[in-house]
Amino acid sequence: MGVYGAAYERSITDPTRFWGLAARDVRWLVPPDRVLDDGAPPFYRWFTGGELNTCDNALDRHVAEGRGAQPALIYDSPVTGTARTYTYRELTNLTARFAGALLALGVRTGDRVVLYMPMIPEAVVAMLACARIGAVHSVVFGGFAARELALRIDDARPKAVVSASCGIEGSRVVPYKPLLDEALRLASHPVRHCVIKQRDALRAPLACPRDVDWDEAVAAAEPADCVPVAATDPLYILYTSGTTGRPKGVVRDNGGHAVALRWSMENVYGARPGDVFWAASDVGWVVGHSYIVYGPLLTGCTTVLYEGKPVGTPDAGAFWRVAAEHRVNVLLAAPTAIRAIRREDPSGRLATGHDLSALEALFLAGERLDPETYRWAAGTLGRPVVDHWWQTETGWPIVANPRGLEELPVKPGSPSVPVPGFAVRVLGPDGDPVPPGVDGDVVLRLPLPPGTLPTLWQDDERFVESYLTRHPGHYLTGDGGHVDADGYVWIMGRTDDVINVAGHRLSTGSMEEALSGHPAVAECAVIGVGDPVKGQVPRGFVVLKAGADADPAALAGELVALVRARIGPVAALREVAVVPALPKTRSGKILRGAMRGIADGEDVPVPSTIEDPAVLDALRPVLRRD
Ligand code: COA
Ligand code: AMP
Repeated sequence: MGVYGAAYERSITDPTRFWGLAARDVRWLVPPDRVLDDGAPPFYRWFTGGELNTCDNALDRHVAEGRGAQPALIYDSPVTGTARTYTYRELTNLTARFAGALLALGVRTGDRVVLYMPMIPEAVVAMLACARIGAVHSVVFGGFAARELALRIDDARPKAVVSASCGIEGSRVVPYKPLLDEALRLASHPVRHCVIKQRDALRAPLACPRDVDWDEAVAAAEPADCVPVAATDPLYILYTSGTTGRPKGVVRDNGGHAVALRWSMENVYGARPGDVFWAASDVGWVVGHSYIVYGPLLTGCTTVLYEGKPVGTPDAGAFWRVAAEHRVNVLLAAPTAIRAIRREDPSGRLATGHDLSALEALFLAGERLDPETYRWAAGTLGRPVVDHWWQTETGWPIVANPRGLEELPVKPGSPSVPVPGFAVRVLGPDGDPVPPGVDGDVVLRLPLPPGTLPTLWQDDERFVESYLTRHPGHYLTGDGGHVDADGYVWIMGRTDDVINVAGHRLSTGSMEEALSGHPAVAECAVIGVGDPVKGQVPRGFVVLKAGADADPAALAGELVALVRARIGPVAALREVAVVPALPKTRSGKILRGAMRGIADGEDVPVPSTIEDPAVLDALRPVLRRD
């Protein structure tokens, strides 16, 4: 058995010993009494009795251990023409001061703070400052509109919101403050204070005393110390798309999270203390939480915060420029970003002009890595390209080629093998394991390893119902796929109504809710269809109310604008068709799967459960865009 196989075996047969050893890399203020508390299944808790502070482990500890002068964060922003490096000492001081500012605004341990931030250093400082005082942050991605922000504010009930005057999307300045003001108007939960970082590109008028200027608050603040929190206390809530329009508040604890991320940095990514790690994502997504902020900093790495796009800021060589300039050792990105680069620079010419000698590997996640993109990236970079599969709920990789342990042979199209800690199984509709090669529900046997979600924010019931009920004793990932005879896992796509657009996880249910809000719409369906760059894009189909007299083209434009206004530009719904009817089963369920298959050019037979086959036949040319 190789190094990987032995580690995997140990993690499954004796998780207490395995994670107990891994926990030694974390600085505990009070060591845990128990590694795994399995006294109340299906709820499991890691490191009960332990106390620590995640910010202490990410910052202060490294200063104390001699990394004070090492770069902790490199902010590289082609959209503002800025590059700035913060040492561990500087980042600790900034964070301590902002933590003091939060305390001065009345934020206390256990209070929630919503962050609606662009990719600026203040976003990282605000997250770590919350961790420092034991407040629970909830970052909302900047591409979401006011209503989505309001939904999250009402669920998390924050004491304060931290935001900025604007974001910068390529050359477009996106004013954040009006979106925040609108969200606060829509939300029923009253927010006491908003801290606003004013940016040079656009300054926002502040409504005092509710609104507070970031710089003034920090200047007036006393630095705050790290407070001890229980390992099982929440560090953050991150909302993610589920089947319905109501997002799920994934909870992350402090202790399990610190242990798992620290372990994953070395064993999955092969990153060591002092390395430069760059996750080209956004702090609004789980990749940003885990591998822009916490993973690299818990490990004593230098993390890169990139405010730009893979293309257009200024060109498709941007990733290679950043990787070369900052001597990046490990790069983590989404396949869609590589496809966007490849489309503009098919020969990979722009990579050859940069010194990428420090780069050890490119990791890709967030959506399926198609073999063609894999081959292009591997050929262009001449480095290992590692597909790995995970999700917001797990917080770190479930399936990967664990370079840090052992480099296994690559099978393009498969993210490789289960990561230690994750007991991956494939179950059929009756709940029995299926043979190798046969598709089914990809599930994880309980208990999940440390760092994964212990529950949903104040909703144990929804946690159990969404994830633990379909296959008792197992966590339902929502992905379908199979395991082959060599133990490699193949993820074939979601089995629910979640879609993945340019690496962004979105709910077709929430888009349908938005479309149904239009007075002319009787019913609708949104499906995700294949796209050469974004992986998937949503397409909408609406049936008008009897007597509704609307010009289809004008209505389609209105509906696209409606979804953009209600969910945000990130929804990227560009196409809505008005159709006479939607295909349904005899029990009235819309046959979205059949619609999706036809739109993707598959030869889809008429489902046996269909109510009226003529409806599906009439829709085929629209779906295929004949
Ligand atoms: N704030 C405001 N608006 C945002 C935003 C943000 N943080 N992020 C995206 N948007 C907007 C975009 O400007 C775009 O607006 P538009 O419709 O007016 O052009 C819209 O949301 C859709 O954005 P996106 O899907 O990202 O498409 P794009 O055409 O701007 O860029 C890619 C395409 C592939 C270059 C880009 O999607 C990309 O870099 N993807 C990688 C995603 C990623 O890293 N995901 C994290 C998982 S690892
Ligand atoms: P998110 O929660 O935003 O990280 O999205 C998680 C979902 O993205 C997963 O459930 C998968 O559907 C998809 N996904 C992420 N990584 C991969 C991958 N490497 N291969 C296939 N699908 C992936």
